[in-house]
Amino acid sequence: MADAGAAQGLEGRSFLFLLGSARTDGNTETLARRAAEQLPAGVEQRWLRLSELPLPAFEDRRHGGGHGGEGPAGNERTLLDATLEATDLVVASPLYWYSVSAATKLYLDHWAGWLNARELHFRDRMRGKTMWAVTTTSHEDAAKADPLLGTLRLSADYMGMSWGGALVGHGNRPGDVEGDADVLRDAEALFRPAARAE
Ligand SMILES: Cc1cc2nc3c(=O)[nH]c(=O)nc-3n(C[C@H](O)[C@H](O)[C@H](O)COP(=O)(O)O)c2cc1C
Repeated sequence: MADAGAAQGLEGRSFLFLLGSARTDGNTETLARRAAEQLPAGVEQRWLRLSELPLPAFEDRRHGGGHGGEGPAGNERTLLDATLEATDLVVASPLYWYSVSAATKLYLDHWAGWLNARELHFRDRMRGKTMWAVTTTSHEDAAKADPLLGTLRLSADYMGMSWGGALVGHGNRPGDVEGDADVLRDAEALFRPAARAE
């Protein structure tokens, strides 16, 4: 499999999976792990659970207040560094109120602070990375996830990132998504177009 990765163009790629659910082992995580199984062995994977790395409330200091001397620290630093180190960002958030989970949204809000900290060169370093989305809805209609996908896709675009693709599964109780044959099939194919594209 590692050789396949090199041959298919995933060589050197590094995937960061950001788990945004407010529970562990939920459907979204199951789906993300199913997709990740298809990544060749040589492709780096890092998994971070946003609930285990709680971020401080975002303070908008863009106009006036500066960004406070020391720069990001603690969990914020961990997430910033992981984000910058990855070539591919897989945002795995369940659909909460038709959008990303609060933890995921807070992480994205912190991007605004990182953009404002000029010395980080955040935009320059994000440009060219690829964003992917994995979500689960309890609703059967995949279109209900459009606001979540729009949030992520437009944010990627704003940052000069490419859009890799998305998985929208259906289920409510943990494990339900295992019964969604269509999305399980899609999960197995999710990272293949990236491999073919290079
Ligand atoms: C706070 C909250 C808000 C939710 N909002 C929606 C929603 O807007 N639409 C929907 O289809 N499902 C909604 N759900 C259901 C979840 O998307 C569903 O249970 C999903 O399987 C949870 O993902 P997880 O198993 O990865 O945690 C919501 C669940 C919670 C806890």
